[in-house]
Amino acid sequence: MIVLGIESSCDETAAALVENGNIILSSVVASQTATHHKYGGVVPEIASRMHIEAIVPVIDKALLKAKLSIDQIDGVAATRGPGLIGALLIGFSFAKAFAYTRDIKLVGVNHLEGHIYSSFLSENVPVFPFISLVASGGHTNIYYVDSYDSFELMGQTRDDAVGEAFDKVSKMMGLGYPGGHVIEELAKKGNSKNINFPRSYLDKDSFDFSFSGIKSAVLRYITEHKENLDLLKSDIAAGFQAAVIDVLKTKLINACLDKQCTNIAITGGVAANQTFYEQLKKDAFKYGLKVFVPIKELCGDNAAMIAARGYRMLLNKNYSEFNHDVFSRNKIDSTGLKK
Ligand code: KG4
Ligand code: ZN
Repeated sequence: MIVLGIESSCDETAAALVENGNIILSSVVASQTATHHKYGGVVPEIASRMHIEAIVPVIDKALLKAKLSIDQIDGVAATRGPGLIGALLIGFSFAKAFAYTRDIKLVGVNHLEGHIYSSFLSENVPVFPFISLVASGGHTNIYYVDSYDSFELMGQTRDDAVGEAFDKVSKMMGLGYPGGHVIEELAKKGNSKNINFPRSYLDKDSFDFSFSGIKSAVLRYITEHKENLDLLKSDIAAGFQAAVIDVLKTKLINACLDKQCTNIAITGGVAANQTFYEQLKKDAFKYGLKVFVPIKELCGDNAAMIAARGYRMLLNKNYSEFNHDVFSRNKIDSTGLKK
């Protein structure tokens, strides 16, 4: 079965053609980050307009790359939420029209479940049950995944998402948006031991996160050391990243031990952070746990993960109707559909 995946929840317009849920025939992403960079974050109205311009060319390109014709597509899967409403509407409405005119089935995919499914698109895949971290600009969620269709939310951020914290720290130092990759590169030149930022673990048994405290601590430090900021930037980046990684590592390993499973899969834009992956892998190994990360292109937003999740929903006959709407905030629902 060949599924066309469409993703447009934030600032990436993406299309992919995936066969039988895990063979990527093509995956195309048109990123808007260069445009949003000058505003220091995503401007929703601009994002929607850019999705309108990009959606058809991106799908054409995906078909061309996969060497497929439009009538070889068996089903269409598009992100239904959570995300920016105007942005979601472009991809999901396009998918509705596409399904209607081609007379094929449509499924509306939960973006977070899509990220979880990016773990199934590698050569080495985690085995059930496993712990999945979705760490992006909008979410920091820990799930217990014990089948293709069951995702138990164990913990989430109570304030900023971890990617958002990277972006804000980058902005504070005048390094622009998005900040994750910039901070990671800068941290390589700094010493994480020079500045000790706070680690917020919340309650001992909680799998929730809080990143607003560390963000404020970084801001305070920057304000107090304005004169030497250029010299301190790399140490600030290293200190910030080390604190964030410590918290993520601890919670993930605890969640895995709590559920007595042995596999941890990390996904989302922040999973592209090589330092995070290496350190988590090293610490997890001490407990006999194995860590999985998708290739870089599949960590961030993409449509292959949406097609992969959509394939399973098509098999389950978990179809979307044409009167289904998009949704901005996540409803915790294992089917991925809004209640
Ligand atoms: O999953 P994603 O592409 O989009 C959302 O759904 O949000 O994640 C984007 C986020 C941004 O906040 C970006 O700064 C962060 O992922 N990110 C990183 C890295 N690369 C991207 N954070 C830390 N280290 C990185 N190397
Ligand atoms: Zn995402």
